[in-house]
Amino acid sequence: MKYFIQAFMVVCALIGLMSGCSSDEKKSEKREIVQTKNSKTQNKSQDKPNIVILATGGTIAGSIDSAIKTTGYEAGVVGVDVLINAVPQIHNLANIQGEQIANIDSADMTNEIWLTLAKRINDLLADSAVDGVVITHGTDTMEESAFFLHLVVKSDKPVVLVGAMRPSTAISADGPKNLYNAVALAANADSQGKGVMVAMNDRIQSARYVSKTHTLNVDAFASPNSGDMGYIVDGKVFFHYAPNKPHTTQSTFDVSALESLPRVDILYSYANDGSSVAAQALVQAGTKGIVVAGSGAGSIHKYQKDALKKLMKNGLVVVQSSRINNGIVLANDTDSEFGFIGSRDLNPQKARVLLMLALTQTNDPREINEIFARY
Ligand code: SIN
Repeated sequence: MKYFIQAFMVVCALIGLMSGCSSDEKKSEKREIVQTKNSKTQNKSQDKPNIVILATGGTIAGSIDSAIKTTGYEAGVVGVDVLINAVPQIHNLANIQGEQIANIDSADMTNEIWLTLAKRINDLLADSAVDGVVITHGTDTMEESAFFLHLVVKSDKPVVLVGAMRPSTAISADGPKNLYNAVALAANADSQGKGVMVAMNDRIQSARYVSKTHTLNVDAFASPNSGDMGYIVDGKVFFHYAPNKPHTTQSTFDVSALESLPRVDILYSYANDGSSVAAQALVQAGTKGIVVAGSGAGSIHKYQKDALKKLMKNGLVVVQSSRINNGIVLANDTDSEFGFIGSRDLNPQKARVLLMLALTQTNDPREINEIFARY
């Protein structure tokens, strides 16, 4: 750890000196989408796979001036070269190249960054010289980005998202081990064709099923409906199962010509719900679809449901999901007849991703219901 913190501080200082950036300049830079190739020339080994690390920010790239602090830090500060240099052991697993796609707190993730990321991954993986991609990402919206990529990446080569619950400056920071595991997973031949994966705290999760289930603990990721997809021990990869729904090369979603995604928002349902106001406002603002985080098995408060029904008659598409992060939501026969769509086992944030992509193909609720059944 001592070595890691010292190495981190030296590299930060060097980068600061070389770039001559003031901290204000660095701050404004981090709001932009940036694409910088790691300029370092490496001695590529023919025996090792070639893995590209795409950095987007998050706590794994977070920093604060106290080693005991795991809250109140700034996410998305440290650059991709620093992340790579902090874990020299990854060079034993693969030839590594790094690129900075963004450097943000993942709470600020946008559709625009998703599209940039997906297109870059598809370009990289179409190159026979690239064997896999690792994406460093904030944990807060990691499950959404992972599921989006799971549906739009057009390759069987491994794509792994990784982050950290503790900033890079903390005692027992989890980022270095997680990054090592992510590279081991992306470099493993058995990872081919498994779709997009998340590597956190030695566990492998499928992008289809994974969810963040703890606000602070390092063991923050689980797949409530399916269990872990596998486990990583000392760089060795063990798979328990492969995802059974279509993804990547079997998915029909294609973002190659898209500059934006249809607007979809999420509404919460709760006692004494007054969010008919919110539903109307969202539609006026251009929303094409709403996912309701319903109570229980997707129930929607009757005031809200009445408001939604009026909006649905004018083309709004509504998916029922649940506030409960476990189980399945199906629309009942009457609601289904009206056009409500059950999210099945997709939580609201993931149902939003699928609904946006579905709306790139059709506005017909019956067809969108079939898409939810399939994916
Ligand atoms: C973020 O999601 O960017 C911050 C929190 C984290 O990475 O754990």
